[in-house]
Amino acid sequence: MRVLVVGGGAREHALLWALHRDAPDATFFCLPGNAGTARLATNLAIEPTDLAAVAAAARARRVDLVVVGPEAPLAAGLADRLNAAGIPVFGPSAAAARVESSKAFAKEIMLRCGIPTPPARTFSDLHHALAYIDRHAEPLVVKASGLAAGKGAVVCSSRSDAAQAARTMLREKVLGHAGSVILVEECLTGEELSVLAITDGEHFAMLPPAQDHKRLHDGDSGPNTGGMGAYCPVSIATETLLERVATDIFSPLLAALREMGAPYRGTLYAGLMIRDGQSPWVIEFNCRFGDPEAQAILAVLPAGLLPVLRLVAEGGWMPAGARLGDATGAAVATVVAAAGYPHAPEHGALVTIPPELEARDDLLVFHAGTATDDHGRLRVAGGRVLALTATGATVAEAAAKSRAAAEAVSFAGKQFRRDIGWREIARRS
Ligand code: AMP
Ligand code: GLY
Repeated sequence: MRVLVVGGGAREHALLWALHRDAPDATFFCLPGNAGTARLATNLAIEPTDLAAVAAAARARRVDLVVVGPEAPLAAGLADRLNAAGIPVFGPSAAAARVESSKAFAKEIMLRCGIPTPPARTFSDLHHALAYIDRHAEPLVVKASGLAAGKGAVVCSSRSDAAQAARTMLREKVLGHAGSVILVEECLTGEELSVLAITDGEHFAMLPPAQDHKRLHDGDSGPNTGGMGAYCPVSIATETLLERVATDIFSPLLAALREMGAPYRGTLYAGLMIRDGQSPWVIEFNCRFGDPEAQAILAVLPAGLLPVLRLVAEGGWMPAGARLGDATGAAVATVVAAAGYPHAPEHGALVTIPPELEARDDLLVFHAGTATDDHGRLRVAGGRVLALTATGATVAEAAAKSRAAAEAVSFAGKQFRRDIGWREIARRS
């Protein structure tokens, strides 16, 4: 079997690790990959959004399955392109990926189907947006409708902040086309939870829920990032809560997409706000595995993901009675980021990973922004550099091991949070 994973972050390294565990004899490619994926796969120096080049590479390498990590190539139509070429791909069509690539589309569908989501209005005209903001209670959230690499949502404590955010997006166009349509949304309070499901568009299997840590510093302070760490499982995700997520959110969304001729095939990610500890409300959908959620979720899943992804990519589903195995234990992924991340990450620092870290069976060293220089040395080559996933019987145990691993790797200017999993640990003690 020949498998191509598209993307170059720690999520893709984690996917490769999980797929390789299922099929150690298969041949793997990663595009573009990083220094870590190079150990499991042949890296191909191609941009994931260069659809023609990706399709040509998949054909030339005779791959049996393509698994797409990031949203940008999906939103650009990579799955459509590969399907048209007869290459099985795990990931939604561009039409279905609109659940992430157009927040206006996602909001419209949710409101139409009665999926719990904060009320919002969509604007392309600044004056209308400002008039609406002026009439609404604080706080408010202003969001770019398009893909903005995690920079598209601004939580505003005052109407004047919200007006400023609307001006920056609609008039100053700081997010380019992504911000040419904005949503002004009611702000919810509660705890956030990421629930991911693998789906063929009709059936779905939920993965163990995870919690991300979006802020740069301990105690959820500092600027928003792509995610500084994640853990799994999360005890607020009770059976009852997950049943509500299935019936009130995943089922109606998938049915609506089927009805509009855009059936969803791939991983569907629901970013939820849990209100009053029990009601799941949708803040956003993503059309892919979360990063860094995947680095924690995949570590607690038993082997057996690859055949499911392959079935879905080929248009099938698991036979009746079959399901993804139960997760065991807990996993905590701590992200180690470059100096200057998230605003202006500095590349080039020499990275040292103690060999004993890579020899442990309760620790996974996933690479993100790493590259090997001409002398074979590991260098920082991106904002998030590594994700250190530790497993253990409890979140507290895994968190302590993950933190110690993050302390042990070294490079100039390294940044990481020492409190990944803190909410769960506080709940348990
Ligand atoms: P998004 O890009 O929609 O995922 O938003 C990024 C982050 O902004 C979320 O993870 C939340 O922390 C916050 N956020 C977005 N929408 C809301 C909302 N309606 N109420 C409260 N917080 C929100
Ligand atoms: N961890 C959030 C995301 O993947 O979008």
